[in-house]
Amino acid sequence: MPRNNQPTLHSHSQLFLGSECLVTILTSIGFATLFFTGWILSISVHNIYNENCNERWIHLDTTELKNVLHANVYGEHIAVKTVVIHLSAHFMDDNPPKALAFSFHGGPGTGKTLITKILVNHLYKKGFKSQFVHMVVASRDFPQNQTTYQDKMKLRKLVEDKIKQCGQSIFIFDEADKLSPDLLNILKPYLDHHEHIDNIVYRKAIFIFLSNTAGPMLTKHMIEFWRDGKSRDEINLRDLEHIIADAAVSSAGSGYYESDLMSHHLITAFIPFLPIEKEHVGHCIKHHLIAKRHYKHYIDIPINKIEEIAQQLQFYPNETDKMFSATGCKRVEEKVDYIMGEKDQN
Ligand SMILES: Nc1ncnc2c1ncn2[C@@H]1O[C@H](COP(=O)(O)OP(=O)(O)OP(=O)(O)O)[C@@H](O)[C@H]1O
Ligand SMILES: [Mg+2]
Repeated sequence: MPRNNQPTLHSHSQLFLGSECLVTILTSIGFATLFFTGWILSISVHNIYNENCNERWIHLDTTELKNVLHANVYGEHIAVKTVVIHLSAHFMDDNPPKALAFSFHGGPGTGKTLITKILVNHLYKKGFKSQFVHMVVASRDFPQNQTTYQDKMKLRKLVEDKIKQCGQSIFIFDEADKLSPDLLNILKPYLDHHEHIDNIVYRKAIFIFLSNTAGPMLTKHMIEFWRDGKSRDEINLRDLEHIIADAAVSSAGSGYYESDLMSHHLITAFIPFLPIEKEHVGHCIKHHLIAKRHYKHYIDIPINKIEEIAQQLQFYPNETDKMFSATGCKRVEEKVDYIMGEKDQN
């Protein structure tokens, strides 16, 4: 008979098993905690480095955007002002009534792509590398004259898939006037005031259509304005909206104007880009001379150097009154390269 209070062999093994069990439980808790912390950490790291459809990655700072546009875009006061007003209204509204749709109009080299680039780089932390930024170039993506069923499905799928992924996606249509009405009409439901379509909200998206069509009409109007002795800054959006409407009539046959987007008033704002004046070309020349390190400071650039480069470009309305650049600021960079390269050769 075992003596009182003396542990038996059986109670020894029970104690041993109990402590082994405790060690196993504690180890498991330790591993679980480690695993959980690691998991939480990996989610945080993933969220820090991987783009998400949230405010960390898509964000508008109106004041900063305004400053960047004012510093980099010359002579397009109407475009800059209109874009900022509509964008900030769209972003401030948690439940916008419809998708934001801009229609940029103007001649070559007036800054349509430049403003689009600034907007994308400002709104999306990853700029054009963002998975929420989509560029459609008419001549590259839909080159045929006849729109096929496959073309329409391709465009529909792009918009639906991308907005399903992120409501605040942006779609840029370059050379929009080259797209057929049939194709553009595919976009109608996504630009309209629908609460949702198949439970997907399309109203937070942004669409930008770029086109040259109204360019010559805007130039003609600006020449008249200038001949009447009026200053560029006096012109406002209302003065020019009818020009774009006239361009729509005279461009019958252009799919863009015949599409439901126009007839159903689904474009938030028609934005005119004014022809670039000689003074603005001067700013563009100076910008490239500094960017390419030909001069260190703006003050170092001789006026005759600016003049020499400007002479390489063609101006409207005639040789005596060289008022507007035929190609805006578009060919400035290559002319800077040419003149400065020529100097280096001598
Ligand atoms: N208003 C402007 N202010 C400053 N730079 C400009 C302006 N317009 C054009 N540029 C410069 O000229 C070049 C061409 O401009 P951009 O690509 O924006 O022209 P665009 O209006 O899109 O022309 P296109 O209709 O031919 O596509 C770019 O280097 C751009 O930075
Ligand atoms: Mg462009």
